Amino acid sequence: MSAVMVQEDQDSLLALRAHDIHKHFDGVAALSGARLDVREGEIHALLGENGAGKSTLIKVLTGVHQPDQGSLERDAEPLEIRTVRDAQRAGVVALYQETSIIPTISVAENILLGERTPAQEGL
Ligand SMILES: Nc1ncnc2c1ncn2[C@@H]1O[C@H](COP(=O)(O)OP(=O)(O)OP(=O)(O)O)[C@@H](O)[C@H]1O
Ligand SMILES: [Mg+2]
Repeated sequence: MSAVMVQEDQDSLLALRAHDIHKHFDGVAALSGARLDVREGEIHALLGENGAGKSTLIKVLTGVHQPDQGSLERDAEPLEIRTVRDAQRAGVVALYQETSIIPTISVAENILLGERTPAQEGL
């Protein structure tokens, strides 16, 4: 198998790709050419010092922020994410820490916040 074929096989399994993402806030470069490839079944950790841009990258992936430059792909297809709903529809969702959860509803309802639950769908 050639190296090119191996690369194609790997790309075909790409669930999510962020390519050359740039994001500035009032002259502060939060992201300068950030890249992330996530393949089906992979778990990644974003590590970096305070202010490194971890949260900003997650917010770009989940439609909270629009990047100044760069592109996203989902399953090797171009992905336009303009809103949090766009990201949700593409299956890209952030689950935040306990400071952002609603304590009076279940874990499942917190995860599905804003969506109809299976019970509401009659399933
Ligand atoms: N909404 C915003 N307005 C202005 N500047 C911002 C905004 N969000 C992030 N920044 C700046 O962008 C840079 C990256 O911040 P970000 O929150 O992405 O870093 P982080 O890696 O998540 O940091 P931490 O480890 O503290 O959570 C920082 O300089 C931060 O001050
Ligand atoms: Mg952060």
